[in-house]
Amino acid sequence: MASDLNNNPHRKIEKNIFILLCFIVAVSAIGGMVEILPLFKKEVSIEVVEGMRPYTPLELAGFNIYKREGCYNCHSQQIRKLSEDVERYGHYSLAAESMYDYPFAWGSKRTGPDLGRIGDKYSDDWHIQHLYNPRSLVPQSIMPAYPFLLNSILDTSEIQRNMEILKILGVPYTDDDIAKYMNDIEVQLGLENKQEMIDDFTKRYPGAKIRKFNNKSSLITELDALIGHLQSIGSKVDLKSNKGIDW
Ligand code: HEC
Repeated sequence: MASDLNNNPHRKIEKNIFILLCFIVAVSAIGGMVEILPLFKKEVSIEVVEGMRPYTPLELAGFNIYKREGCYNCHSQQIRKLSEDVERYGHYSLAAESMYDYPFAWGSKRTGPDLGRIGDKYSDDWHIQHLYNPRSLVPQSIMPAYPFLLNSILDTSEIQRNMEILKILGVPYTDDDIAKYMNDIEVQLGLENKQEMIDDFTKRYPGAKIRKFNNKSSLITELDALIGHLQSIGSKVDLKSNKGIDW
């Protein structure tokens, strides 16, 4: 009887630590894959909300400046469901609102306030002045000044490639969007006034704000892109009219 038990294959696995380890790793890997892999599909993990759209080429350029200047080191973009967050910043952030951010800019530290609902909170002039010299508006501010953005010409040479890569990652840019990126920047800044071009732009990017964000310069500056981006954060989704989401 005893020898029968010893020949039992399960016994062999239990008694040999290396074989046991291999089996544990294999079984947990399968379990892990079943749990984790579906989450890589956005449709499974993110509820679709009305109004959410990819960045316009100008906003995308602004988001890149936001990342380049490290704004996310001091500012988060995730308003939590806690009452103190919601009372201070507004409606809590929805997963869908950052679904086209690569990488996301949720941040992990709030040296400055959360920017999840900064869009439309201040005028463009306020942002120009604040980025030029934060202390001229908030005397006790420790935010660095970014005066160079005011007159730096926006480098548009990478935007097209950037959109192509985002498309591969799943952002729904069409070939038309990518081909028209430079026109779209001009239309959004009000530098191109042909009505059919404006209509075409607003059809592809509903709700996008059209104006010269940096009115201190007639050129296309980095500040235009950054403020265009800031004014779009958290203001794309109409939180009142969206149905089917529990608030
Ligand atoms: C060293 C940390 C730090 C960095 C980096 C930083 N900020 Fe700030 N920011 C602050 C602080 C502190 C405040 C609050 C005081 C003030 O309004 O200036 C603030 C305030 C703001 C506000 C106003 C928020 C509100 O709701 O009143 C905006 C907008 C803003 N920052 C944008 C930016 C952008 C864009 C960048 C990157 C170009 C940036 N910040 C980089 C610390 C920082």
